[in-house]
Amino acid sequence: MNVTWVHSLPTGKETGTFLTIDLGGTNLRVCKVTLHGESAKNKDQKYDIEQEQYKFPNSIKSTNADELWTHVAEKLEDFIENKGLAKEYDDKNKMPLGFCFSYPATQDGIDHAVLQRWTKGFDIDGVEGHDAAAQLRAKMEEKKLPLDLICVINDTVGALVASAYSDPATIIGGIFGTGCNAAYMSSVSSIKKLSPDDERLKDKDGNTRPLMAINCEYGAFDNARKVLPWTKYDAQIDEESPRPGQQAFEKLSAGLYLGEIFRLILVEFADRGLIFADQEKNGNEKLRQRYSIDTGFLSQIENDETEGFTDTRGMFRDVLGLDVADEELEVFRRVAELIAVRGARLCACGVAAICLEEGITEGHVAADGSVANKHPHFKKRWAKALDQILGFDSVGEDQDPIIITSADDGSGVGCAIIAAMEMEDRLQRQA
Ligand code: GLC
Repeated sequence: MNVTWVHSLPTGKETGTFLTIDLGGTNLRVCKVTLHGESAKNKDQKYDIEQEQYKFPNSIKSTNADELWTHVAEKLEDFIENKGLAKEYDDKNKMPLGFCFSYPATQDGIDHAVLQRWTKGFDIDGVEGHDAAAQLRAKMEEKKLPLDLICVINDTVGALVASAYSDPATIIGGIFGTGCNAAYMSSVSSIKKLSPDDERLKDKDGNTRPLMAINCEYGAFDNARKVLPWTKYDAQIDEESPRPGQQAFEKLSAGLYLGEIFRLILVEFADRGLIFADQEKNGNEKLRQRYSIDTGFLSQIENDETEGFTDTRGMFRDVLGLDVADEELEVFRRVAELIAVRGARLCACGVAAICLEEGITEGHVAADGSVANKHPHFKKRWAKALDQILGFDSVGEDQDPIIITSADDGSGVGCAIIAAMEMEDRLQRQA
């Protein structure tokens, strides 16, 4: 669990224009976010956003720090140029930048983030144990970008803050996507890692701030493997990952891995001659290629309502070059369901743990990520599991006191709001 130096949820009045960069796992996203606060003409549209998304070249995931930050700085430079921002900002008047860095980081302050370890399949040399903010800042200086890095945040904290900007009932920000994780506001007095006398906790009047957002990093829960039952497929995923023994919980429940678990099961069936028996000649090469099945594939299987499941058959043909027989289809649908149900129920466990620990009994869990947004049954399964754990079973289906909502854009808007809050805080301290 990591402290984040975000001391409050937004008031909804925050304003200003910010650049944000999101380095999250699959894409690199740059946004220009304008927050309208209370002057928003429409209450449901409290911000404007312009954005560019750049697909991360797969090779980047295993390069070195210099190449990573050069790539990031180049994309920032492109964005500044394409949006004509160089006319408005320069070395003396820099544009505030928020950085959403969705990996476990030790933060001594809000503009500092020492990467503890890469997760989600990243394996870039020379960043672990270093301050990612300082590395990015150095690259931006080298390129003379007119940007001032104000804050580094985790995507879960961004989801929490962005959602609370428009929905004050938000209590938790959760990401159920490539990785899985959540953040909530904790009372500072219960944070064992910090002494209440720590100078960094003091506000402008010298009073200790009462709250701090905590990034749980619960994807790393049970790394010692004492709690959760593992299948041999889980063990294989772990062994073949760049960081065996890390992110144990995430490897059972997050989007990066669900498709791969499915693939490993199919490979075993094929090895035992139970499926695709007459197609072995083609070698079902694609099926044997690691990560050739992604989680979207599982979502589509469960989403398929076509007569005779023609869509699923088509997908097997397009993605894997394999023809599926009727009995195989039935098995695959069941396996896809089992994997997704386990994932959704584990994701609910993480959030239930926060609620139990903090005594939270009502509110909204703002969720983002590809699994939450794209899997047809994730939210329903998640909600059912949460009900069972927290004992909401007896209340009517639509009356659960804790519900899952769709998070607002945490890594863009949430990151900009946190930068706005931080700048306001700095101004007050200087006053
Ligand atoms: C991984 C990261 C964590 C992030 C989550 C969701 O668990 O370690 O920082 O919040 O993925 O993106």
